[in-house]
Amino acid sequence: MGLKVGIIGCGSIARFRHGPEYKANPHVEEIVFYDRHLERAKTLASLFGGRAVETVEELYHDPKIIAISDCSSNDAHHIYSTNALLNGKHVLCEKPLAINVECAEKILAAQKRSGKKLMVDHNQRLTKVHQKAKQIIEKKELGDVLTFTTTFGHKGPESWGVEKSNATWFFKKERSSLGVAGDLGIHKIDLIHYLLDDVIEEVKAFHATLDKTDENGKRIEVCDNVVCALKTRKGRIGNASFSWTYYGFEDNSTIIYCQNGIMKMYDHPHFPLLIETKDGEVIKYELESIQTNENQTSTGVIEAFIDSIMNDKEPPITGEQALTTLKVVESILDGKHV
Ligand SMILES: NC(=O)c1ccc[n+]([C@@H]2O[C@H](COP(=O)([O-])OP(=O)(O)OC[C@H]3O[C@@H](n4cnc5c(N)ncnc54)[C@H](O)[C@@H]3O)[C@@H](O)[C@H]2O)c1
Repeated sequence: MGLKVGIIGCGSIARFRHGPEYKANPHVEEIVFYDRHLERAKTLASLFGGRAVETVEELYHDPKIIAISDCSSNDAHHIYSTNALLNGKHVLCEKPLAINVECAEKILAAQKRSGKKLMVDHNQRLTKVHQKAKQIIEKKELGDVLTFTTTFGHKGPESWGVEKSNATWFFKKERSSLGVAGDLGIHKIDLIHYLLDDVIEEVKAFHATLDKTDENGKRIEVCDNVVCALKTRKGRIGNASFSWTYYGFEDNSTIIYCQNGIMKMYDHPHFPLLIETKDGEVIKYELESIQTNENQTSTGVIEAFIDSIMNDKEPPITGEQALTTLKVVESILDGKHV
């Protein structure tokens, strides 16, 4: 007998990642969809062969549903993920874990009370390039990491979200809360923590709303650009930039500068991982490209989540790690200490 799973929130991330990856998973028998816009749940049910329900309680109270993906907008994560956990479901929550640290702590408390698994979709860790880079760093093939630079930018979420409009919740303070820092920046902060096996402890940042306007033509209430300098617990220093106003190709690159060379990820057009060593050697890896808004490939996140349930293992991306990352993002925005 396969597993039954639920998805809350049937917008873009459910359509492009969770739906297809659950459908492709051999252990998953049925996907049950809920969205406050019932027609969106029905659309995904017909696309992925599951069924739609009219209320979220139907997911919570169905004993056959053992796991739930929370793909709602950021403002609802602490409600749905908390309730799903307290109703005995394993939860895969989309990033950011919540709109602020206080709400994230509620989810973590529910996870502890329930004893169920909580995984957070910081999917960048799982790409082949980032996995390979992690190995190289762990084995100190290029010596110790000294500095880093990372960026994530594209033309903005108004062309990605299901609504395809400047009225998108991504632009609303009370619903997205963290703007581009919570949308794209949080991926890179998590990635740096993961790759370097380290934690960012000091932040100096600028954030601004430079270009995006809402449905009334007014400047949006959340930041569309961030530039920051970061220092880690182990003393590494680096910089990061996050943007919704890169009006060309998406940039998702990270460069790690080590004692004996440089590792460039998603920086070269043909070689997603490229190493330049101190003595002049260039090593090019032809690994799979990262998912972009235009080019969706499997992230491996659902596979890892289902594996952690089936084999009763800790998920590879935990609620505690996501909380640590969220604290850095809050510090980037409010200027207070991490
Ligand atoms: N991991 C990633 O790379 C990645 C990429 C994009 C988005 N996300 C995250 O996924 C989440 C969803 O983003 P999206 O791009 O799918 O947005 P979206 O606007 O396309 O879809 C959100 C869906 O959730 C539904 N929804 C929102 N609030 C709800 C509520 N209170 N009750 C019921 N349904 C509700 C909406 O009706 C909509 O259908 C966000 O947290 C976002 O940050 C993650």
